[in-house]
Amino acid sequence: MGGMAEHNQLIDAVNIRTAIRSFDDEPIDDDTARQLDMTLAPLNLLGDLHLQLVRNRPQVFAEANASGHLRNAANYLAVVGPKNDAEAKERAGFYAERAVLAATLRGLGTLWVAGSWDRAEAARHCHIRNGEELYLAVVIGHPEHHVERLAKSYEELAEFQRTHRPTKSFEQFTAGMSDEAREAAPAWFKAGVEAAMKAPSAMNRQPVTFTYNADDDTAAAHIDPSAGDEHWALNDLGIAKLHFQIGAGQGQWAWGDGGLFLHK
Ligand SMILES: Cc1cc2nc3c(=O)[nH]c(=O)nc-3n(C[C@H](O)[C@H](O)[C@H](O)COP(=O)(O)O)c2cc1C
Repeated sequence: MGGMAEHNQLIDAVNIRTAIRSFDDEPIDDDTARQLDMTLAPLNLLGDLHLQLVRNRPQVFAEANASGHLRNAANYLAVVGPKNDAEAKERAGFYAERAVLAATLRGLGTLWVAGSWDRAEAARHCHIRNGEELYLAVVIGHPEHHVERLAKSYEELAEFQRTHRPTKSFEQFTAGMSDEAREAAPAWFKAGVEAAMKAPSAMNRQPVTFTYNADDDTAAAHIDPSAGDEHWALNDLGIAKLHFQIGAGQGQWAWGDGGLFLHK
């Protein structure tokens, strides 16, 4: 089986990405860093964000590396954006997850972190302008045993993704819909929800649900307050919307809780 060569689309990245907590002790080289920086530049323009790649700062993860929760975590995407701006937090989830999927296609491992880092130390090594704040980080690096890992087939990685953690069911993800409405929903909606089910979320709480509205052929995304994800719900809403959009194919979201997706 030929590795990942024929699987270079964003949907392929959705289907194989998992949180990676153990990394090889090997730096991100200059060429890879340049390519990641080139990915971030348009995302920052589109999202009015200030995402930055920071390399070789293991001190940001000293505690988590020492406890064994993480291994060799040393590089991160600093998720920086406008201060006190709910919509920017959602955009940060959306566009930083886009960078996560690009990194996944390059064979890199990623982990969103809200807790397993030293925020103050991380802030020292990135650029936070006036009126901005550091929301979160995404650890990035070569996954442990990455040479062997690169030889794995797409199917093997996708099987691991499907089985490595519990997920809320399709019915739970579409809790606002009747069985009949689910049955009648178009294939793009189902594919969108399935991609969202594979998205990362804080503590795997999966706080976002989707509904399909047959009257105007739109989908809507909602934050489920009962998921108990009050701190990171907007970030996770942005992540889930990106995954949905990739699964659904062409289309565009409006921002916000309850925002609509227009399929094209
Ligand atoms: C906003 C956010 C914050 C997270 N914070 C942490 C963290 O501090 N430590 C950690 O080990 N995992 C963290 N995670 C990773 C989640 O636990 C993980 O994405 C989730 O369990 C789903 O697993 P998966 O990413 O393999 O699909 C975070 C994820 C998100 C989206």
